[in-house]
Parts: sequence; C-alpha cells; structure tokens
Amino acid sequence: EIGYVNGKYVSLDEAVIPIDERGHQFGDGVYEVIRFYNGKPFMLVEHVERLINSSKAIRLPIEQSVEDFNQLILQAVEKSELKDCNVYIQITRGIATRLHLFPNVPVSITMTVREAKPPKPEMRDNGVKAIILDDERWANCYIKSLNLLPNILAKQTADEAGCYEAILNRDGVVTEGTSSNAYIIKEGKIFTAPLTKQILPGITRMAVKRIAEKLNIDFVEEPFTTDLLLSADEVFVTSTTSEIMPIVKIDDNSIGNGVPGPVTKRLYEQFQLEIA
Ligand code: PDD
Repeated sequence: EIGYVNGKYVSLDEAVIPIDERGHQFGDGVYEVIRFYNGKPFMLVEHVERLINSSKAIRLPIEQSVEDFNQLILQAVEKSELKDCNVYIQITRGIATRLHLFPNVPVSITMTVREAKPPKPEMRDNGVKAIILDDERWANCYIKSLNLLPNILAKQTADEAGCYEAILNRDGVVTEGTSSNAYIIKEGKIFTAPLTKQILPGITRMAVKRIAEKLNIDFVEEPFTTDLLLSADEVFVTSTTSEIMPIVKIDDNSIGNGVPGPVTKRLYEQFQLEIA
C-alpha cells in the first residue's frame, strides 16, 4: 500500500496533512474510489470524469485534464505494486488559515492505494440484510463530497442492527444506500432511482445499465417507494467496493424467497465477465 500527497509518495502512516487543511477542517473537497482488477482499472475514465464534475460543482479550480488524472492514478497503482486494489483519491480546497471563504491557494490532491478487500463470497451467495432509514443528507447528493456524516451515521446504525447497508428514503421514496445505489426487480424489470441531484450517479450503476441492455432486461429509471422495495421480487445494491450485492431481508421482511434471485445472479455473472 502507498500514499500520495501533492506530488510525493509517502507511507500511509506518515503525518502529511497540516492542521489548516480544508478537507480536514471543513470536509471541503471531493473524492473517488476506483477499483483495479488484476492490474486494470474498472471504468477509470468514468470515475475521473465524475471527479472533475464533482470538483466543478463545488467550484474547485482544477487544472488537470482527464488524461492527467488517469496517469496520476495509474502511476500510483504501479508504484504500489498491487494488482487488486482500491485507489482513493481526494481533492480539497487546499491549505490556508481557517476561514469559511475560499482561499487563494492551490488545491490538495491526495491518494491512497490499498489492497482490495472484496465482500466474502458467502455474502453474495446468501445475500445480506438491510434496513430502511430516512435520507437526512443535503440537496446535492450527486456531488461525491467528503461530507459523509449522514452516510456514516446511517451505515453505523445499519451495522448495529446486524445489517450490511441502510437503504435511504425521502418521504417514502427510495433514493440510494449510504454508500451504494439501490435497485429492485419487479416482474423481471430492474427499477432504480432516476439520476437527479438526490443520488450519486454510480459508476457501477452505469455498468449495470449497460449489462441489463446487453441481457435484454428492462432498466427502468423511475422513483419507487419503500412499500415497493419491501414487496419486490429481488433487491440489490451496487458500488465500486460491493459490486452487485443481493439484499434478501429488509427490516423484518424477507425479499422474494429470502435468497438471491435469478436476475441479480445473471447481472453479477455478466459483471464478472466484464472485470475478468
Ligand atoms: N461509495 N451512492 C453513494 C452515496 C456512494 O457513496 C457510492 C459509492 C455509490 C456507488 O457509486 P460507485 O458505483 O461509483 O462506486 C452510490 C464509495 C465506494 C465509497 O464512498 O467508498
């Protein structure tokens, strides 16, 4: 594993962030998590484009191009000598005496490259549990911002309830998971929340949409309620680190037959072919 701070490679336990760093003090920044499989990045350009979009959305002055970021990330992975790893990259508004207003300083770019710790196979084979919680986040969840307090509080609540993920809702309408996008299968069709400012446009979601089209499974981007979630034939969540994860129980309700369903399985099989 390896760290990177503004042009320098460092070990992960090195003290490199000054106290007046805005990511540290304000959460004033954006990030991405990118998975490498056997030395190859999965949808790197899409991640980098989202990173640039998030930066623009919070008015971070980014000079780097998509190609610059690609090279930075590929070089860090090469340096780490890891083949199956996650790159965490974050950009913050830099280092300046604490003041809410934007400082006139360069942005900070930091990265970590760590060995990937994929979910245990039995989790995917048997499915996992989720709980439904209120979505207490802000109005701009399409930005992959460092401000994850509502997400981590909900994730912790889920964990303490013996669950893998919390599926969030606003007034009874499902948005997404705390760190994943959420889907249901009803009558053979996939339903997932449309891309509004209320959800992150997941890169794995993009992959699932493409796979669904390939397999001739309808991919319907329409809002659905928590009632529909509980009565769905299948439920799954997706993210870079979870890939496609079947949910078989939500609160006290079994989903379908309480085991991962056929559509989720087909999607995951095709996903595995794409990352091979
Ligand atoms: N989380 N929605 C939220 C709120 C997320 O934080 C994530 C990813 C996703 C899925 O996006 P993608 O498929 O591009 O990973 C959806 C990352 C993995 C994290 O915070 O660790």
